[in-house]
Amino acid sequence: MKKRLLSLVILMATAPLALHADEGMWIPMLLQRNEAAMQRAGMHISASDIYDINHASLKDAVVLFAGGCTGEFVSKEGLLLTNHHCGYNEIVKHSTVEHDYLTHGFWAMSREQELPCPGLTVVRLVRMEDVTRQVLHGLDDNLDEAQRDKLIEHRIDSLCDHAVEGTHYRAAIKPFYYGNQYFMYINEVFNDVRLVGAPPSNIGKFGGDTDNWMWPRHTGDFSVFRVYVSPDGLPAEYSKDNVPYQPLKHLTISLKGVDEGDFTFVFGYPGTTRRYVTHDQVDLSANLENPIRIALRDIRLKHYNNAMNQSPAQRLRYASTVAGIANGWKKWQGETQGIARLRTVEIKKYQESQFQMWAEELKAAGGHDYTRVLPQLEEAYARLRPIDLEWTYFNEGLLASDFMYRAYLLWNLATRHSTTDDDAQATAQKLLARNETFFKDFDQHSVVDHAIFVETLTYLWRAGQMPYLDIRSEADLAKYLDKIYSQSILTHRDKMDRLLKGYTPRQARKVLGDPAVELMVQAYDNSYTEAKRNTFNTAQADIQRLMRLYLRGMMEQYPDSNFFPDANLTLRVAYGHVKGFSPRDGVYYTPYSTLTGIMEKENPDIYDYVVEPKLRSLFAAHNYGPYGSPDGSLRVGFIATNHTTGGNSGSPVLNADGQLVGLNFDRCWEGTMSDLIFDPRYCRNICLDIRYCLFLIDQFAGAKHLVEEMDIVR
Ligand code: ARG
Ligand code: ASP
Repeated sequence: MKKRLLSLVILMATAPLALHADEGMWIPMLLQRNEAAMQRAGMHISASDIYDINHASLKDAVVLFAGGCTGEFVSKEGLLLTNHHCGYNEIVKHSTVEHDYLTHGFWAMSREQELPCPGLTVVRLVRMEDVTRQVLHGLDDNLDEAQRDKLIEHRIDSLCDHAVEGTHYRAAIKPFYYGNQYFMYINEVFNDVRLVGAPPSNIGKFGGDTDNWMWPRHTGDFSVFRVYVSPDGLPAEYSKDNVPYQPLKHLTISLKGVDEGDFTFVFGYPGTTRRYVTHDQVDLSANLENPIRIALRDIRLKHYNNAMNQSPAQRLRYASTVAGIANGWKKWQGETQGIARLRTVEIKKYQESQFQMWAEELKAAGGHDYTRVLPQLEEAYARLRPIDLEWTYFNEGLLASDFMYRAYLLWNLATRHSTTDDDAQATAQKLLARNETFFKDFDQHSVVDHAIFVETLTYLWRAGQMPYLDIRSEADLAKYLDKIYSQSILTHRDKMDRLLKGYTPRQARKVLGDPAVELMVQAYDNSYTEAKRNTFNTAQADIQRLMRLYLRGMMEQYPDSNFFPDANLTLRVAYGHVKGFSPRDGVYYTPYSTLTGIMEKENPDIYDYVVEPKLRSLFAAHNYGPYGSPDGSLRVGFIATNHTTGGNSGSPVLNADGQLVGLNFDRCWEGTMSDLIFDPRYCRNICLDIRYCLFLIDQFAGAKHLVEEMDIVR
């Protein structure tokens, strides 16, 4: 009896589609299917309050920001909130030594002071539509994959053209469930978006990369923008005559806050998840790719961080590069540990064995034959794996140093772009611009860059990744690399400048003779042979086709399960509850952080933990006005079980009544495997409490006029 019970427990825990409560990123148009569950979980509003095309709904207030983040309208005059790290580039672009908005913050005290951000876009979803039938009719599984892709592409193009004819909208069609379903998105794109406000970095990025991906968290990760349109209300390029956009819907903000157990949902643009992949892919990502990338980034981070501690100038120089490198580096570590902790590879194997049994039975009963899907997937991964390994080394290693990346560009200049003078000129200009930064403070930079170059390539050599070099010892390798670094034209400014200004294709031969370019070409020719590329592409296409069948099979296997489609940078709803968790034995995390925690972390000697004097005095005064909690504290952040991923940054976190209570900005480190496997014991999204955000705008920055524009309920 006991034994049977145990196996039942295992079965329940591992059935592929026994989705955990709280798991899933749902399609707004199909939210009716989740409505009952969401209301049972505590939601007071309806699915059509969230997505409706006949009436303004919450979806009209949520936008794709800068092509990879989420933003939301919070006033009838186009005021928009997103994360500080999402507005980062714009803040940097407007910053100079005299007006360092990145360090000190920026606040437009009038509309005239709002700063145009050329190139920045905001996209609103007008409506979506299921176009599966139109895209897939008449196509069967026997069709050659390339031919199939071509046909589909053609149909997509004509459907999109037709859908937006005579409007200012744009259309896009995206595959779901590995191409078992297609949805069309009709979008409105705004391109006059202006920077309105940003806190200083020691608030907007408080805790820096040290606290990144971690709880407890105290980052004031928000920035403020405003969308403008032409006087007749249509999206337009920047013009001083443009007027603030009046959104169909803007969010109401609640100052009530949230408590443990409260229902919340996140509405935004998650980028990529891989929920349904087989054990081979999990193993490939977590146990093969991640460790290589982490080890190679260790090298870069060590040298850059070292340099950043030398002087403020060097800190500025490498800040953004390091933020990018460190973000993936830390996430992958959490991901790989989480994958192991949940025994994901074993669980996947078990699920696959269940599928195989089901498929055999179905076939025996005269049904569709899915029995070859999993064996063929395994076989395709066996072909993919060695090449994937090699390419991971190449991309993360050979291109790691500034030096070798420029060798790669130079090689491009000499080969790919040598057909027309125009192209060559454009590439040459790019390289010239890169020279500016490369040779700036070259004495210091070359030390850092040279060290990264040598250490990274030594790592590749030890890993057997440079078989084309006839070098036997590390000492010889070091000599060889030093020689390349010092002799290459890439480290000689005058020669580089001379070559690039007035570059003509006739100089290609000279470029190809450069020792660094030669090394790059050797490496590339070794790793990207035609045979390897063919093997890789064929394996990828097979995996794509087989995953389509696998998913279709699973949906037949579990007809009563509500599958969520993997994230693909389309608008989704994730719901769950505010909830603490235990990351490891003996430790419990409460679900919120407060201003007190900022003061506890304060350390004037550590860059990431410097506290603004003004924030300190506001803390000392202990008067948070309408933004304080009944217990006298000021809540800064909270965590919840909403299933989110990269792209969800800046997403509105809404309460049971659909009111804004926070901005999503990160996940807890112990749960970063959630792109592959979600476990409500460890997976938490991290949110900025909207009251801290408003407190900063109002009392810290003194930009009360912005708060007054918003609809706030107490
Ligand atoms: N981890 C968050 C995300 O994946 C925030 C990254 C920006 N912050 C940083 N310290 N690098 O995007
Ligand atoms: N920080 C991520 C973002 O920028 C969010 C996440 O990965 O949870 O979208």
